[in-house]
This record gives sequence, structure tokens and C-alpha cells, in this order.
Amino acid sequence: MCGIIGFSGNLDATEVLLNGLSELEYRGYDSAGIAFFQNETIKTIKTTGKVSNLIEKVASIADKQTTCGIGHTRWATHGGVSDTNCHPHTFGNVTLIHNGIIENYHEIEKEFAKSGKHPVSQTDSEIAAMLINDLYEGDAYEAIKKATTILDGAYAFCILFKDQPGVIYAIRNGSPLVACQAEQGSIIASDMVALIKYSKDYFVLPEHHIAKLDGQSIEVTTLEGNQMEPKMLHVDWDITSAKKGGFAHFMLKEIHEQPTALHNTIVPRIKNGKLDFKEDGIDDDVFTGINRVIIVGCGTAMHAGLIGKVMFEKLLRIPVTVEIASEFRYNNPILDKNTLVITISQSGETADTLAALRLSKEAGCKTLSIVNVKGSSIARESDYVFYTHAGPEIAVASTKAYTVQLSSIYMIAFKFAHIRGMIDEETYASYLKQLQEVTTAVETTIGYDKKIEEISNCLTSAEDLFFIGRGLDYALSCEGSIKLKEISYIHSEAYAAGELKHGTLSLVTDQVPVIALATQEHVYAKMISNIREVRARGAMVILITNGEMPVDDDLCTHHIILPKTDDQFAPFTAAVVLQLIAYYTSVHRGLNVDQPRNLAKSVTVE
Ligand code: G6P
Repeated sequence: MCGIIGFSGNLDATEVLLNGLSELEYRGYDSAGIAFFQNETIKTIKTTGKVSNLIEKVASIADKQTTCGIGHTRWATHGGVSDTNCHPHTFGNVTLIHNGIIENYHEIEKEFAKSGKHPVSQTDSEIAAMLINDLYEGDAYEAIKKATTILDGAYAFCILFKDQPGVIYAIRNGSPLVACQAEQGSIIASDMVALIKYSKDYFVLPEHHIAKLDGQSIEVTTLEGNQMEPKMLHVDWDITSAKKGGFAHFMLKEIHEQPTALHNTIVPRIKNGKLDFKEDGIDDDVFTGINRVIIVGCGTAMHAGLIGKVMFEKLLRIPVTVEIASEFRYNNPILDKNTLVITISQSGETADTLAALRLSKEAGCKTLSIVNVKGSSIARESDYVFYTHAGPEIAVASTKAYTVQLSSIYMIAFKFAHIRGMIDEETYASYLKQLQEVTTAVETTIGYDKKIEEISNCLTSAEDLFFIGRGLDYALSCEGSIKLKEISYIHSEAYAAGELKHGTLSLVTDQVPVIALATQEHVYAKMISNIREVRARGAMVILITNGEMPVDDDLCTHHIILPKTDDQFAPFTAAVVLQLIAYYTSVHRGLNVDQPRNLAKSVTVE
């Protein structure tokens, strides 16, 4: 969703910016550009396509010495993918980069048109450059402040003023920006992955505050002009976490990192044989007084919520609904103080999820978020935060973030089921033991890699595909399906296995493979009947069971037997199989696994 970076300091700034853009490329890869101060002017280099195109273009330019500049990698929203629409945008004295969407850009553009001023691009971002330039009379703070009263929408800007060499101004509303003052200079970016090379200590630029970076220091000022000290944060991972480390793709690396991510998320929270959320600041009374849970998220995070619904309802006997964040807030949801709203988000910045959280808070709900990125907007604004410890996830297709979200949901369900007396000591202890053992089961499943690679060969030429399952397996099918379609471009759908015959079965032929999840013993016989229904229509079936299960010879084409766990833990191992199926199908089809077309990892616009 666009990655932005700014650097001022004692290093070669173009190199810092290009390195940073490579780290931020997961946020968008339609085009990339940089702008930097040189000999009292601002020089801009930009190009469509990936950051590697920009790196080549910059390499071919002789005169690029600079110590201060800004860079952008774009996920196109307003205006197609073209050279003119690439950032940075310059108008008069102002050169800026933008992540977000200016919703009223058209009205502002019409006002400028009255005085004969027209943008050259079709972007909303250039209008912001025009506006700030128009308001600039030598005082950057005044111009930015006035602009914020006019601009509607989400934005993170890094701004250069031609007459202030070496200085970058930044402000944000909705879209993320983190910054650090390192020995080598001042640096600001959309994500910590671009900063980690220089410092592990950083701060989140508070919304509606202006940052001024001059290489020596970063000054943060409120819109009223008061300087403030932002709260410093520390990351416990290093630059190697954001590199491929010998794996062909980030996605494969992240699949392999799941045992560690699960361990880091689960183990520190188990003390003396009990779940302890003291360090999370989550009180034992979070579930007191509530009579309903709503889980909200987007994409994979929302799919983790579907598993959450099954687990919470089973263990806590509280009604749970799962809502797609982009739908939730426009559907006039019924909310009150007896509702606990759980938002799930890897990035903690997804615009729709953040808006759903804000709406819930306004309505007086208790809010708890499950978030991977420390200090992100969703984490900061929730009453309670339960951090997952997956480390940075770079591939657009989420893998390790999903399984740690599941582990968090399980821990929350186990702890509160215990507090509320829904499970006895023995069951509680057994659940915790099994949850810890999941790490090993996931590791074993990753070891099926070669077998899954081979099986995935039979999906390479499929055009349509179904995932079917019941209960937890249906929730998991939704995740398996999104994973496959987003990186293999094969059309796939997830269906509750029993629902297939109410319409969808008419689409099943011998050309339509079916991936059948049958990990839940209590509905195993029913699943077998549903699998027979698709086999009778000639479908090739990949069957996934939890341990050895009775399987007739003709029931499936391929059978993947997960390391046996209690059924309720099967989503962890089954998720790994689905991730590997998606991964190898994409690889076999020769596609860009980590950066699938039209998508971006962190969606900070509506
Ligand atoms: C994007 C990503 C998905 C992710 C979703 C929610 O669509 O491509 O992988 O699941 O956003 O992101 P979040 O950061 O809120 O978990």
C-alpha cells in the first residue's frame, strides 16, 4: 500500500533510500522513485515497475551524490501505472511522497483549475503537493498545518521544500510512519524493516504531529507548535529477519519460521503451568460482563477469526460473530458495552480494521487486538493488546502471522474458559501441553515439503478449484483458498462441504480439483460422503486427514496424513499443508510468489 522513506545524514542518501525501498517493496510494486537535494535543486528519478528498475536507472546516472532525500514504492490507487503518476511529485517549491488516499482531491483540483493551475499526473498525491506549495510562504509548519485542515482522507507524507536543503518534514493521518535518529542520520519510513539496519530503537510518529528531520535530530511538534518527546520502542529482531536467508522466497522462509514464531508467542505466556497475560496487561476480567464477542479483520486475519469463532463458542459458550472489517462499519453494527470486539491484524495498520476498532470504541465496547507489529495504530488504540511474535512478515501471502494469530486465539480461549470455570484443571493443563506440542507438529508437517511439492504438480494447469471442509476445516478452507488464489491466480472457492450440493456441485467436473480437509473426527463420516459426491463427478481429490483415518482406495487421488494431534489443534498443521500447496503451485506456474499482481501487504486505504 505504498512504502515511503526519507533520510538525511552522513551517508550516501540514494543508497539508503534504494536499500530502504527494497525492504518496503512488499507494500507496493507498481512503480518507484526518489528525490534528493543536490546543488540547491531537487533532483527526481522515477520509473514504473519494480524497485530493481529504479536501482538500474539510478545506477546509470552519474551525478547523484546527496545526503538527503525521499523515496517511494507505489501501489496504484488514483491514476494508472505510468511514469507521470510515479512519486515523488513536485509542484513549485514542494516535492513529496504520499502513502494513503486524499478523498477530496478532486474538489481541491477544481479550485486550482479556477486559477489556471493543473496537475500533470492523475494522482491525488500531486494535488497535496500543489496545496502545500500554495500554502507555503517560507514556514513549512504553517503550510503543513493549514493543509491538514483542507485534506480529507488518509496520508503519510514526507516533504522536501526546495529552499530548505537537508531537511525533511513528515506528517501522518491514518497511514503509518516510524522514525529513528541513528548515528548515521535521521530516517523515517512506513515500516521498521527499512530502519532496522540503522537502529533497533525507534518511535511511531504520532498522528497529526509534524516531524522535522535534519540529519542531526528529529524534532516532533504538535500542530499547535509544541515540541514533544515521542515514546521510544525497541524491536527484538534484526536485519537478518527481513532477508531471505538462503530460501528461494520470503514465503517459504516464513513458512519455515512458524515453529519459532509459535514458540516465541506461546512459551513466554505460560508460567508455572498456567497462562499468564500480566505482561500483556490483559486483566482476568476482560471477559467479565460481556455477553457477546465480535471478531473483526481482513483477509487472512479475518480467517483466523473464523477459527476463533469455533474455539470461543466451543470453550466459552459465548455467541461470536466474525465480521469483514470493510463491511462492518457501514452495516450499522449493533454494539454496546457488553460486547468485546477482538480485532486481528498482522500489520496493525489495515485501514478498515482500524476504522472498525474506532467505531467499536465509540460505541463503548471493550476492545482487544491481536497484532504483530509493535506500536502500530491498532495496537495503540485498543484497550488491550495481545502481541504475536512472528517477527517481520514480508511475503504478501500471510503464513506465520496466521498460525501465531491462531495460537493467540487458543491461548485467550483456554485462559478465559479456565477463569470462567468452563474447563477443569486437568483439561486446562492438557490443552496447554498440547498447544506447546503444536510447535513440533508444525515442524514435522514442514518436513512434508517434498511430498507436497510433488502433489502440487497436479494443480498447475487447473483453472478452478474447491476447498471443502466442515467446522474448523471449513474455516481453514477459507484460508487455504485465499492463499492459493492470491499467489497462483487459480480461481478457487472454499465451501462448507455439506453446502456443496446446494448449487456449487454443478461446477465440479473432472477438470476441477477438490482439496478436502477431513481432520475433525466428529464429522469425518459426513465429510467422506461429501468427498464421494465430488468423486462421483470425476473430481481429483487431495484429502488431508489428521493422522491415519479409514480411507477407501478410490476416495482420493492424493492423501496427506497430518501428524496426529487432538482434532482442535489440526488447523495448525493443516494450515502448513495449505500454505505449501499454494506456494508450490505458484512456483510451478512460474509466478512471483512474494509479490503477486495487484496486491499489497499492508492495506492502509479503504
Ligand atoms: C492484505 C494482505 C493479507 C492480509 C490482509 C490483512 O490483504 O495481503 O495477507 O491478511 O491485508 O492484513 P493485516 O495486516 O490487517 O493482518
